[in-house]
Amino acid sequence: IVDVKGGPDEGLDRLGQTLVVRGWVRTLRVQSSVTFIEVNDGSCLSNMQCVMSSDAEGYDQVESGLIATGASLWVQGILVPSQGSKQKVELKVEKLIMIGRSDPSFPIQKKRVSREFLRTKAHLRPRTNTFGAVARVRNALAYATHKFFQDNGFVWVSSPIITASDCEGAGEQFCVTTLIPSSHEAADSLADSIPKTEDGFIDWSQDFFGKPAFLTVSGQLNAETYATALTDVYTFGPTFRAENSNTSRHLAEFWMIEPELAFADLNDDMTCATAYLQYVVKYVLDNCKEDMDFFNTWIEKGIINRLSDVVDKNFVQLTYTDAIALLLRANKKFEFPVEWGCDLQSEHERYITEEAFGGCPVIVRDYPKEIKAFYMRQNDDGKTVAAMDMLVPRVGELIGGSQREERLEYLEDRLDNLNLNKENYWWYLDLRRYGSVPHAGFGLGFERLVQFATGIENIRDAIPFPRSPGSAEF
Ligand code: 4AD
Ligand code: MG
Repeated sequence: IVDVKGGPDEGLDRLGQTLVVRGWVRTLRVQSSVTFIEVNDGSCLSNMQCVMSSDAEGYDQVESGLIATGASLWVQGILVPSQGSKQKVELKVEKLIMIGRSDPSFPIQKKRVSREFLRTKAHLRPRTNTFGAVARVRNALAYATHKFFQDNGFVWVSSPIITASDCEGAGEQFCVTTLIPSSHEAADSLADSIPKTEDGFIDWSQDFFGKPAFLTVSGQLNAETYATALTDVYTFGPTFRAENSNTSRHLAEFWMIEPELAFADLNDDMTCATAYLQYVVKYVLDNCKEDMDFFNTWIEKGIINRLSDVVDKNFVQLTYTDAIALLLRANKKFEFPVEWGCDLQSEHERYITEEAFGGCPVIVRDYPKEIKAFYMRQNDDGKTVAAMDMLVPRVGELIGGSQREERLEYLEDRLDNLNLNKENYWWYLDLRRYGSVPHAGFGLGFERLVQFATGIENIRDAIPFPRSPGSAEF
């Protein structure tokens, strides 16, 4: 089995050897004396060009016309230098077996098909260059994530997917129910036993075995319990947001990486976020060269230089107050007006990182407490909290983090002011009752990282099976 990982040149040291390739036909060109079959097994971007003459075993299958784009093959041959300019080596076929034929209706043909179209073919799109490359780089980013945290002594904690708490307090949770009515009649007959809201509607949110339960929006609160026992931990798992937004940066189901550091403040948090991003970006530049060259040519021209800068440069840091001043000074008409206290919109974030700071990642810190979650530590000014967002070009907010409020009385006050029921947070408050420590953490949206590292414009193309309003088919 040919191992051509890392690009076509790799095979050069195996010239003259008899090898086997198993994969799927990308293209087939039948000429009078010889047939060229491009086979790809997904191990790398390059295809293996298989050159077959009529005396090779299995040529009857080529003659029969049954081998077409999409078919799966087993091919044995000798690796020889290629005559063509596209690849250094090719396989001179001795024997070919078609494992699975491909119906002529195979929708992914050689002509470039749009990414919108491919979203409707999510089961076949991994067989394209773009989605194969995205899948490999996504995998490398996940591996590098674990490697970074493991090498730095963090413990990976599995946070639950079903939970009663709303970490972000934004009311964007999907509720979980144990009831699966098979029809309207079944739902009606169950209805008597189901809790109702005041206006008589079924209260589905009360129905996880009689208690409310939701899909998690963030593993942070759970991570905090382990950080206040094991010191440095991280989560890496799926999270869910029932926000009905149809943008190129939002999914209803996305993966989040959430480190939580004990005995740490906001500066430690920002240092960790910077080191993490630089590490994973360098990892893909070093280890996914062929795929990154592909993105550089076909998806975002110059992405390699852009990412190399991220690895080498210090990130810009500024306070929210300074960011607002900068936006007010900008000679630009924003759709959403800017004033101190407003939440930064995507157009503001992109202006800051793309225009004001020339494409460098920017960390904005110390946001007004009114626009941030209950758990963030209040600053001495009484108006802002020790929050930080990392903004990057093209994507906007890549990371959201903060130092957590570790002082029991401040946290209780904050819950009261926000009309949140303290009883629901009894276990979270316990962490402040028993050996509280300063601690901080952040959450990084993994698909936004994939967008950032590949240049893929739409977040739906950064995850194998995107979940957004109206799409859960595959
Ligand atoms: O800023 P967020 O909402 O922060 C939290 O959830 C904190 N509990 C994290 C923490 O401190 N442990 O989300 C964090 C990141 C965002 O910066 C963004 O990258 C990503 O998660 N994100 C989304 N990605 C895709 N689709 C969505 N709907 C997203 N919402 C947030
Ligand atoms: Mg955020």
